[in-house]
Amino acid sequence: MKVIVCESYEEMSARAAEIFAEQIKEKSDSVLGLATGSTPIGMYDRLVDKYNDGALDFSGVTTFNLDEYYPIKKSDRQSYHSFMNEHFLGKVNVDRERTHIPNGEASDPTSECAEYEEKINAAGGIDLQILGVGQNGHIGFNEPKDGLDAGMHITELSESTLEANSRFFSADEKMPTMALTMGMENIMKAKKILLLASGKSKQEALRNLLSRVVTTDCPVSFLQLHPNVTLIADREAMPNI
Ligand code: F6R
Repeated sequence: MKVIVCESYEEMSARAAEIFAEQIKEKSDSVLGLATGSTPIGMYDRLVDKYNDGALDFSGVTTFNLDEYYPIKKSDRQSYHSFMNEHFLGKVNVDRERTHIPNGEASDPTSECAEYEEKINAAGGIDLQILGVGQNGHIGFNEPKDGLDAGMHITELSESTLEANSRFFSADEKMPTMALTMGMENIMKAKKILLLASGKSKQEALRNLLSRVVTTDCPVSFLQLHPNVTLIADREAMPNI
């Protein structure tokens, strides 16, 4: 695993945007796995800037988001559809026919997961997967458990994740307690993975990642088994090992 330690969130975001941009310059029809959450917002901002400067063309890419709350309306402001529209997909020249986000409105979530996974496979798999990490070590919403689901699935969010993400919901808004998420296999099959981590609350998860022990108690630790992972972390997120 390549580890890049940055002095600040801004530097982390700029380095991540450079790697993302390189991927598209090398392969204009890249299949990109995308994440939401606070961590990648700075990277998306910089990618939008590069697009506005005429330095990047997203017209050939295909995108697959990692996850979506369930149940949730696409139009809800906290949905990952709204998030991606606001921060990235709505601001660059992606072909919206080739952007995919799990459908939190699906009446049959199991079929939705199977169809979503089929679309990833039909697109030839993911070239570059962007990941953030939860305080409890989740990636996507693959939460710490005795056994991790390999395939795309519907999952209960853990207490830790419900608490961490409650900041996106106001007191009178009910936060969904489940999510549709790419399983570990879909993440691990990506050709390259770019993991971003910012802030002290991510130290414990990174300690597990860098420990040389793989455990379902900390799903991010499985990235040790992937041949092409780059971790970009700001100094606050880096544990003293
Ligand atoms: C989001 C996702 C999650 C987040 C994680 C960290 O699509 O899959 O795994 O990456 O919860 O979230 P932030 O960046 O808000 O700390």
